[in-house]
Amino acid sequence: MARLDGAADLQRWRSPPVLRLLSTGTLLKGNHQNKVWRGMAQLPGSTEPGLPMVIKWVPKNEVLAAELACALAARALKLQVPPGALVLAEKVDLPDLPRRVTGATTDWVICYGSELQWPDDTVARPSQAPAVEEWTWQRLCDTPQGPAGGVWDELVANDDRHCENVVFDGSRWWLIDHEYSLPGVAKIMKRFAEQVARQSVVDEHAKVNILAQEVLRRRPNDHKMDTLPGSWQQFRQRLQWLADQAQHWQTGLAPVDTILMMTHIYLRSIDLRLPALALHLQQRLARPDPASLWNSPSPPPARKTTPRRPV
Ligand SMILES: Nc1ncnc2c1ncn2[C@@H]1O[C@H](COP(=O)(O)OP(=O)(O)OP(=O)(O)O)[C@@H](O)[C@H]1O
Ligand SMILES: [Mg+2]
Repeated sequence: MARLDGAADLQRWRSPPVLRLLSTGTLLKGNHQNKVWRGMAQLPGSTEPGLPMVIKWVPKNEVLAAELACALAARALKLQVPPGALVLAEKVDLPDLPRRVTGATTDWVICYGSELQWPDDTVARPSQAPAVEEWTWQRLCDTPQGPAGGVWDELVANDDRHCENVVFDGSRWWLIDHEYSLPGVAKIMKRFAEQVARQSVVDEHAKVNILAQEVLRRRPNDHKMDTLPGSWQQFRQRLQWLADQAQHWQTGLAPVDTILMMTHIYLRSIDLRLPALALHLQQRLARPDPASLWNSPSPPPARKTTPRRPV
């Protein structure tokens, strides 16, 4: 067991991060892959006010677990990823759920909830799609969150950092949407205890790392991404402590506990990869030519790398 005294900011995760949706969700407009709502959620039985959250329904348990594990690991590493939780919602409270879900027998669905970071709508931005993308990358890369985000995406093998997967709240940039992180973990979930399976987790390499590429291009001489893997080692105990907590999370609700168990494995995977991060990053930074990992000859077909505008 990792010892961790005095890390007050992590203590809330002694209990499983499982909340209830309190209100009817408001569907977010936009061309998103999944249905996403805004709503208020709360720990069952809590007297604290509800938390504003962005609630996402996804069909696969592994995706819920990957999102939750990434949000947790990012807290351990003190990165700006909004805290996350599983959110149990009554189906009637989520308008426009896909028919295959509304037709199922249970009244409840399990969603992923990400604490809402209010986007700053007061900042003047360009309105043409390519200019928005350029504006976003330039502003983000100019802050410490650019390099930190590029290294983080390397750690969790995330190739989906298109420019709508960041939120600007007026002063800070938040990294959201980790559903494509560590896809190999889902495949080996059942065999995770075996050495060979664990090695495959350590070796996993995303085809592209969009944010690291943007940072490298815009700040070739002062990005300092290569210094971060070493400094993140100091957070390893925090990460292991969270994984230890996750191992014991139980709610008594079998489908929720399945996702919590998977979350534990994703957290262990991120921890396993931390010692190899410097090497992964070195390989990434050493090959910025077009035939390299930046620009895979066959990029994943279904996913966007340019922004999709709201419809
Ligand atoms: N914590 C958050 N705070 C503020 N806005 C958020 C948050 N999480 C998500 N959003 C908003 O909801 C949108 C959709 O969320 P997310 O990217 O997780 O879903 P998605 O269906 O995987 O999207 P896509 O397929 O478009 O990448 C985001 O682009 C962002 O505008
Ligand atoms: Mg997204």
